[in-house]
Amino acid sequence: MINMKILYYTSTGNNLYIAKQLGGELISIPQLMKNNELEIKDDIVGIIFPVFYATSPKMLREFVEKANIKTDYLFLITSYGSDGDQNALRIMKETLNNRGIEVNYTNSVLMVDNFLPTFDMANEKELKKDLNINDDIKAIIQDILKKRELYLDKKHFTDIENIEVILETTMTEKFHIQVGKDCSSCKICTMVCPRGNIEIIDETPCFGDTCDFCLGCVHHCKTNNLTINDEKNPNERYRNPNIKLSEIIKSNKII
Ligand SMILES: Cc1cc2nc3c(=O)[nH]c(=O)nc-3n(C[C@H](O)[C@H](O)[C@H](O)COP(=O)(O)O)c2cc1C
Repeated sequence: MINMKILYYTSTGNNLYIAKQLGGELISIPQLMKNNELEIKDDIVGIIFPVFYATSPKMLREFVEKANIKTDYLFLITSYGSDGDQNALRIMKETLNNRGIEVNYTNSVLMVDNFLPTFDMANEKELKKDLNINDDIKAIIQDILKKRELYLDKKHFTDIENIEVILETTMTEKFHIQVGKDCSSCKICTMVCPRGNIEIIDETPCFGDTCDFCLGCVHHCKTNNLTINDEKNPNERYRNPNIKLSEIIKSNKII
C-alpha cells in the first residue's frame, strides 16, 4: 500500500476533483493553515492548487514558505484555465527548493477558467466540455505510481519579467466584489471562504481584509447576490459538476 497525502486548495472544485481521483489521504490546505499543522510527512506527498495570476493563491505561497514537508517523492499539480501554469509551478518549485525541499514531479490540467472578470462561464463550460480531463489525470496517476521524475520547463509564456506580480497588482486594483440586496443570510459565502474572511451582518455579507479573490463566495452564492464589477456574465456561475457544495464547505469552512 502506498502512503500518500494529497494537500489541496479549491474554490470551485476543479482541484478537489483532481485530488479525489489521485487517491491517498485528502487534506485541505485552508484547514492545515487554520490549525497551524505544518509538519507533513509521508511516502508520497502531492500539492494540488489552481493558477491565480500566473502564480498560486496567496495562501499557497504562505503555506509553502512555512510547511515542513518530509517525503521521498513530492509532486505538484496545478489546474488552470488558459495560461501561466508553468510559471505557477516554477515559482512553487523554486520556493520549496530554496527551503531545501526537493520537488520530483510537476504537471498541470486544463479545466474551466473560473476567473469571472475575463471569462463568461457559459462560454467556458461549452468550450471545455470535450476536454479529456480524466485521461490527463489518469496519465498523471501512472506517472506518480512509477515515481516518475518530471519538471516541465516550458518556455516562459511571456517575456515580461515578474508577470505574476504585475497581473496580481493590476487585477486586484481593477476588480472587486459587489454586494447586492438579495442576501438570504444562508451563510454559504462565509463557509466556502478559505480565509474565513466573510461575516453576515444585518443580512449583508461583510468582507474583511484577507481576501484571496478566489471567487468561491461569488460562484456559490445561492441568490447570485455577489458580482464583480465589469464581469462578462453576471448570470452564470461555475462549480465543478462532479463536486458537491458540501465538499467545498468541508474543505474551506474555517469559522
Ligand atoms: C483570481 C484568479 C486568478 C486566476 N488566474 C489564472 C491564470 O493566470 N491563468 C489561468 O490559466 N487560470 C487562472 N485562473 C483560473 C483557475 O486557475 C482555474 O479555473 C482553476 O481550475 C480553478 O480551480 P478550483 O475550481 O479548484 O478553484 C484564475 C482564477 C482566479 C479565481
